[in-house]
Amino acid sequence: MKIIIAENYEDGCKKGAQMFLDLLARKPDALLGLATGDTPKGLYRELIAAAGDGRADFSTARTVNLDEYFGLDGKHDQSYRYFMEQNLFNHINLKPENITIACGVAPKSEEEARMRAFFDANPIDLQLLGIGRNGHIGFNEPEARLRSSFHYTALTEDTIEANSRMFKRSEDVPRAAYTMGVGDIMKAKSVLLLAFGPSKTEAVKKMCDDFVDPWCPATVLKMHPDATLIIDRELADAAGVK
Ligand code: GLP
Repeated sequence: MKIIIAENYEDGCKKGAQMFLDLLARKPDALLGLATGDTPKGLYRELIAAAGDGRADFSTARTVNLDEYFGLDGKHDQSYRYFMEQNLFNHINLKPENITIACGVAPKSEEEARMRAFFDANPIDLQLLGIGRNGHIGFNEPEARLRSSFHYTALTEDTIEANSRMFKRSEDVPRAAYTMGVGDIMKAKSVLLLAFGPSKTEAVKKMCDDFVDPWCPATVLKMHPDATLIIDRELADAAGVK
């Protein structure tokens, strides 16, 4: 795994965005694996700026998202579809038919089958990831056994608590989600994980030791042939990453 220490959040987002811009220049119909959360917002701002001044063209690009809350319709303002529309899709020339996101209100078996068929037929070129404080990627939560394929999953108390900041009432925070499995993530040709700030220290320490640990799912990326971790200086210092 390649580790890049950026000066700060903006610098890390610029460096991450450049990987997407380089890919699109090389392969205009690339399949981009996208993520939600506060972390990738700056990278999306960079992509929007690049689309605005002609450095990027999304007209033939395709996207798929990592995960979606279970029980939230795509129009709900906390759904990940809504997040993507607000933070990226509404500002670039991506075609709606080239966007794939799990439907949070679709029945489990149908949605698992639909998304698994999508991943079987469509290899991801570059998968963007954030990381949970507990090391989760997508919604692959720490567990003794990690799931390989797209699946429905319950969320841990730690994740529910971390995500409650986005909801008015804690009882509104979804307790379950749909997510790509770790196998789907590992099948992406390239993977980029962004982590900024001290709350990710423990997870990043584990990403940088020598163990692959299902209790910190992001550690599987050590086995990926083309994985990049971008962290900021503050997090690198806190995690002891040189
Ligand atoms: C959620 C998402 C993850 C994301 C994580 C961290 O749980 N499912 O994909 O990486 O939050 O979010 P943030 O970037 O806001 O710290």
